[in-house]
Amino acid sequence: MSLSASDRYTSVAIALHWLIAVMIVGQLAGGFYMHNLPKEQAELKFTLYQMHKSFGVTILLLTFFRLAWRLGHRPPALPAAMAGWEKAAARAVHIGFYGLLVVTPLVGWLVVSSSPLAESVPTYLFGIVPFPHLPLFDGVADREALSHQIAEVHEYLAFAMIGLIGLHVAAALKHQFVNRDGVLSRMLPFVRG
Ligand code: HEM
Ligand code: HEM
Repeated sequence: MSLSASDRYTSVAIALHWLIAVMIVGQLAGGFYMHNLPKEQAELKFTLYQMHKSFGVTILLLTFFRLAWRLGHRPPALPAAMAGWEKAAARAVHIGFYGLLVVTPLVGWLVVSSSPLAESVPTYLFGIVPFPHLPLFDGVADREALSHQIAEVHEYLAFAMIGLIGLHVAAALKHQFVNRDGVLSRMLPFVRG
């Protein structure tokens, strides 16, 4: 099915969608991998934690830009043939994604800021840009336990993200191969109307 230019996302929206999608997959795989590395691999673990924080903060900043862009550029309407509940489900998944793309990195920031290591190990994004820790945990008696609990919340948010990705990709494939309505191609780069 051919699409007119107005049926497509803007190039900026498409670029941000795929850039953030690739980074999210890297954050999820890298996050679980680094967390499970044994203490003996301290050097690699440290490097991966620094990378994880750097890419996580980058995702947060890109998401703010993406939301601002979206406010000024309405996405194309969904196909009229879609049932009301399908449109509502698509909207709910998209809102859920935006929520997680903001909240997950913020909770990650709380994990780092609450850690007892926060005072002795500063964060430099990509080894260069100094990144502050939130000064919210100074008087807390057991920072180790608190940080651990916040890390669990961060992990649950990551699982929620995986759940949404599963639904989202299944829906995209259904549009492409069952409905054949061109919904996937309007988010693909290099596809012309
Ligand atoms: C959307 C962005 C992010 C995603 C998808 C993500 C995902 C994950 C995942 C899957 C884990 C492993 C969870 C586990 O096995 O317990 C993890 C751990 C961690 N993340 Fe993130 N993260 C993101 C952003 C951030 C940011 C911005 C920071 C800090 C500035 C951060 C700090 C951490 C830390 C410190 C851990 C280790 C927790 C531990 O070892 O107990 N994350 N993250
Ligand atoms: C892995 C992380 C991903 C995230 C966080 C993500 C997030 C999003 C979000 C938030 C939107 C809504 C855009 C808007 O209207 O503002 C969207 C749209 C879309 N995504 Fe993804 N996505 C991901 C991966 C994928 C993958 C792997 C595919 C294809 C298999 C895909 C296909 C699409 C399509 C076709 C749309 C447009 C839907 C429509 O026209 O309403 N996405 N995605």
